[in-house]
Amino acid sequence: MTRLIDWVDARLPVVEAFRKHMSQYYAPRNFNFWYIFGVLAIVVLVNQLLTGVWLTMFYSPTDAFESVQYIMRDVQFGWLIRYMHAVGASAFFLVVYLHMFRGLLYGSYKPPRELVWIFGMLIYVALMAEGFLGYVLPWGNMSYWGAQVIISLVGAVPYELIPFISAAESKEIGEALVTWVRGDYLLSEATVNKFFALHVVAIPIVLLALVVLHILALHEVGSNNPDGVDIKKNKDENGIPKDGIPFHPYYTVKDTVGVVIFLMLFAVVVFFFPDGGGYLIEKPNFGPADPLATPDHIAPVWYYGPYYAMLRATTFDIFMSAKAWGVIIMGGAILILFLLPWLDRNPVKSIRYKGWLSKVALMLLAADFLMLGWLGTQPGSELRKFMAQLGTFYYFGFFLVVLPFAHRFEKSKPVPERVTGGH
Ligand code: HEM
Repeated sequence: MTRLIDWVDARLPVVEAFRKHMSQYYAPRNFNFWYIFGVLAIVVLVNQLLTGVWLTMFYSPTDAFESVQYIMRDVQFGWLIRYMHAVGASAFFLVVYLHMFRGLLYGSYKPPRELVWIFGMLIYVALMAEGFLGYVLPWGNMSYWGAQVIISLVGAVPYELIPFISAAESKEIGEALVTWVRGDYLLSEATVNKFFALHVVAIPIVLLALVVLHILALHEVGSNNPDGVDIKKNKDENGIPKDGIPFHPYYTVKDTVGVVIFLMLFAVVVFFFPDGGGYLIEKPNFGPADPLATPDHIAPVWYYGPYYAMLRATTFDIFMSAKAWGVIIMGGAILILFLLPWLDRNPVKSIRYKGWLSKVALMLLAADFLMLGWLGTQPGSELRKFMAQLGTFYYFGFFLVVLPFAHRFEKSKPVPERVTGGH
């Protein structure tokens, strides 16, 4: 075995790579609960890739709805693989949202980890595209109507904001792009074929490449931690951070506990609540796509809820159509997250040492995002529209006012020299 490893290592530095990224990667010793979600994101990614490959063996984009029925009823364990994939999609977003929230808690996006965050955001955008494309594939009634709504947004982008493009040309560009995305004059099999190729080949390659870049960028600068203290500032005589412990075996073992607990919870949902009461697989999607039967209430899956709520909350027609403003607000809500490393001017990284204003504002942001998510999945009403408008206002207010300026109006606690906690 040793000779085999030496033979390979002489040709490809696998041992060196293992040392650099595992046994001699020194991670802060005080990682807590919030640090499990990066690893869990890898676990869910692998689940999606494996179950996705198996689904592809039996799914057919030219006979989409029927082939999913075939998977559910005739293919051995097809139901299990499909539910692992469908529940896996929601699990992916849950894990990624918690992973991103950790970034907000501990200022993990701040220098020198800006690029780690940017790659993370690109992953998030790719993931949203992947989720949408996948949702269309079973060609249930909500796949159809969801695709109708989302593809129409491509036509609502105000292209007239680009210099030299008139409003009439903007409309033409929008219509041409919508036809191009559909691959047909109406939503059809051609659309499903196209989305299948993107969902199964194109986006997964991009996602995988981004995840590798995300982790390489992180390992270049090292992990942050719940105290937001830079462990590289305190090294021993061998140049090893005093507050660091080798990722392997310490965190590989610790993370295994988290992974096992996660898989247990995941199994409970897959086996007992695979449709999550209509929140994980929506009820209209158990019936085939029907252009003549619009579902009573078209709503996205929960993980797009916050953005959909913002889109619907935008109802003013000033200079441009409300739909165009909706697309701008929705796009802006995602784009603003890319700018976090530069918007946050607080010299203190971790929420532990920030003042009460920052603490309360961040808790409110979490509550706001949950509220918007819920509103996005519910039928509209005047009250809900008002709540969504308020929620959208706070969302942008947090990033444009609280993050850059709150520290001027609060007293933060002194940040320690060395990390606290951990063994
Ligand atoms: C497929 C999705 C993703 C995977 C597999 C992934 C994987 C990881 C892993 C393994 C780590 C190190 C362990 C940890 O700190 O939890 C990490 C750290 C990090 N990730 Fe991700 N990630 C993903 C998505 C994202 C997204 C969407 C963002 C934010 C937009 C993000 C931002 C970060 C940041 C800022 C760190 C450094 C955290 C720190 O050191 O405190 N990641 N990621």
